[in-house]
Amino acid sequence: MDKISHLIDLNDFTPAQWNSIVTLAHEIMSAPMVYAGACRGKIMGTLFYEPSTRTQMSFQTAMLRLGGGIIGFDNPSTSSVAKGENLKDTTKIVSGYSDILVMRHPLEGASKAAALTADCHVINAGDGGHLHPTQTLTDLLTLREEKGSLSDLTVGFCGDLKNGRTVHSLLKALSCFAGNHFILVSTPELKVPMYIKDYISASGKSYEEYTSLEEAIPKLNVLYMTRIQRERFGSLEEYEQQKNVYCLDERKMRLAKKDMIVMHPLPRVDEIAIPVDDDPRAMYFKQANYGMYVRMALILSMLDYGLESKPLLSGKVMNTVSCTNPKCITHTEKYLPHSFRRSGDVLECEYCDERILI
Ligand code: NCD
Repeated sequence: MDKISHLIDLNDFTPAQWNSIVTLAHEIMSAPMVYAGACRGKIMGTLFYEPSTRTQMSFQTAMLRLGGGIIGFDNPSTSSVAKGENLKDTTKIVSGYSDILVMRHPLEGASKAAALTADCHVINAGDGGHLHPTQTLTDLLTLREEKGSLSDLTVGFCGDLKNGRTVHSLLKALSCFAGNHFILVSTPELKVPMYIKDYISASGKSYEEYTSLEEAIPKLNVLYMTRIQRERFGSLEEYEQQKNVYCLDERKMRLAKKDMIVMHPLPRVDEIAIPVDDDPRAMYFKQANYGMYVRMALILSMLDYGLESKPLLSGKVMNTVSCTNPKCITHTEKYLPHSFRRSGDVLECEYCDERILI
């Protein structure tokens, strides 16, 4: 293999690189047969330690449509993980069988940890509540196709903005385009993490925080709904208090602009009422379909054209310091170097972005 590049955080790449993937996806959509054999002889390994429908199957169909093959597991309990194999060894072995590895894991920073060991390209298909870069590529393609632009948009995010990894990745990406403004609608408990808000501000973009969807909706060009992430809560009681707070229904849709689009990474639980599906502004099923084409473009870009990316770890290794995020991969995979970026009095974990005051 010539050059390995990994997609862990979309912001490790430039907006020009995202743009070329999205443009390639557009070309594939208009002439899919041209690309039908483009990955013949290549193998993709999908290691899914967490449930998935769209991400896993769209990656698999993407590779099959490009003429490649697939291996992997969708349930670690049927692999040697159930016997106690660590992430390093599983990655080492499966990356030796594959040309590209797609990983989803409940712990934050897991894909980066895997990439440190892998002998092939690694793609982060969701690491706990942290990031989900290929959903963001899907979202960027949807916005380009359906709104015609990635700039000058007022984008509302509603639901579990604390634990929603799709929200974090998309906010970071859209912060890189001129004129975007964000309206963040959540309960006080489920607000966007501070490090993401700082990223928005540092990019020169603005945001407002609301608790009412009714108040926010008339201002929006795009509404990005999300599910309350039950699996990320400490207890069922905490989840019960948060579920059903927001529901987009036909009444609220009447308050929205005529050309506002509704996006959702899916799965939906009950935050969008079923009748909204028939509103022409509901874009979520189409969005999921765009996900397959953008993943075809990503696989091709990584395998065929090569993508120039940043080094995985560039900070300082301080093995005496522990990340304070209990969901960080460094707590279970104990051999990992504890690597931090330093900014003033703060250390930022290079796996999960947790901030630690020193
Ligand atoms: C999302 C995820 O897994 O983060 N789903 C997806 O990949 N399309 C959103 C979610 O699970 O709520």
